[in-house]
Amino acid sequence: MKAWQLSGFGLDHLVLNDVPQPQPEVGEVVVRISSVSLNYRDKLLYDGNYNPQLAFPITQVADAVGEVVALGPGASRFQPGERVITNYCTRWIDGPPQGKESLYTLGNTIPGALADYLVITENALVAAPAYLSDDEAAALPCAGLTAWYALIEKGQLTPKQTVLIQGTGGVSLFGLQIATALGAEVIVSSSSDEKLERAQALGAKHTINYARTPDWEKEVLAITKEQGVDQILEVVGGKNLARSITAIKPGGQISVIGILDGFQADIPIFSLMLKQVVMRGISVGPRRGLEDMLRKFDQLKLHPVMDAVYSFDDALAAFRYLERGAFGKIVIRVRD
Ligand SMILES: NC(=O)c1ccc[n+]([C@@H]2O[C@H](COP(=O)([O-])OP(=O)(O)OC[C@H]3O[C@@H](n4cnc5c(N)ncnc54)[C@H](OP(=O)(O)O)[C@@H]3O)[C@@H](O)[C@H]2O)c1
Repeated sequence: MKAWQLSGFGLDHLVLNDVPQPQPEVGEVVVRISSVSLNYRDKLLYDGNYNPQLAFPITQVADAVGEVVALGPGASRFQPGERVITNYCTRWIDGPPQGKESLYTLGNTIPGALADYLVITENALVAAPAYLSDDEAAALPCAGLTAWYALIEKGQLTPKQTVLIQGTGGVSLFGLQIATALGAEVIVSSSSDEKLERAQALGAKHTINYARTPDWEKEVLAITKEQGVDQILEVVGGKNLARSITAIKPGGQISVIGILDGFQADIPIFSLMLKQVVMRGISVGPRRGLEDMLRKFDQLKLHPVMDAVYSFDDALAAFRYLERGAFGKIVIRVRD
């Protein structure tokens, strides 16, 4: 079968190889992949910033949809012919985190899904929603669950609360869609006025161009009449985190999700204490959370925001687009 594999760090080392088709072991299933979606995390991986100990060669990409075509011994959760999507943290079914959730992920310590077939534990799969196309279903797992888990499961978002969404990438636009659908008032920041217009069309009540307004936290305070917002999806990290502490309401929650601007942060601890801010690290979410999210998405008939769909052979162009910053999700169609 064909598989896009990393043979070393750097996008130059992502190559299309002929590899033997893996056989399922106990509790595993074989999935014929239809589509995969990209996440910024895939860039972190090939740049060597996610797992510097990555063992090469390793097939890339975590988020996928496909059809179960064969079962290993003892596998019984799905039948051949069923359409499934992958859960990012393959061993996190439910319950509190144990600390290694993001270790057992596809393209990292487990061969990924940018290939004709994926062999995976049946426990890491959920049924794909029937109302979504393969490309749309592939867009859901990592980015969708991250936003859902942060805002809804941990944040307990209620209607009328205010939410700040930073940027217009995959996690952010799921956050915008989820918060808007639940009746929250959303502020979106972006480096692009054109993207901000599109965010408004998706329900953003207020927008801020963070490239033109680097001290965007003052703008957030002005919009909220100096109250601050109830929740922030912090996808930027670095110096941005201190600004988020200024922009949050007393008692509000900052979901610490991303490191687009750096892995280290210098934060005002006194403000954090005085405002009694909840700062919560997020590591995507458990399979049960993905199932909860899919039920709600199905009720709402929520469709992910798709930016571009690339062919399997053109996978490198899809990754290059990821580096430029998409509006929503980028998909690679593995099989028509
Ligand atoms: N902890 C977790 O569980 C988890 C899960 C998923 C993702 N993540 C992390 O979350 C981050 C986003 O991931 P993603 O896959 O959604 O990325 P993505 O789709 O590649 O989105 C990137 C977007 O981020 C925005 N951005 C970049 N720098 C920014 C800044 N200084 N301020 C505000 N926005 C900025 C840009 O939006 P504009 O073009 O609109 O400016 C850019 O298009 C990454 O760091 C990723 O590693 C973490």
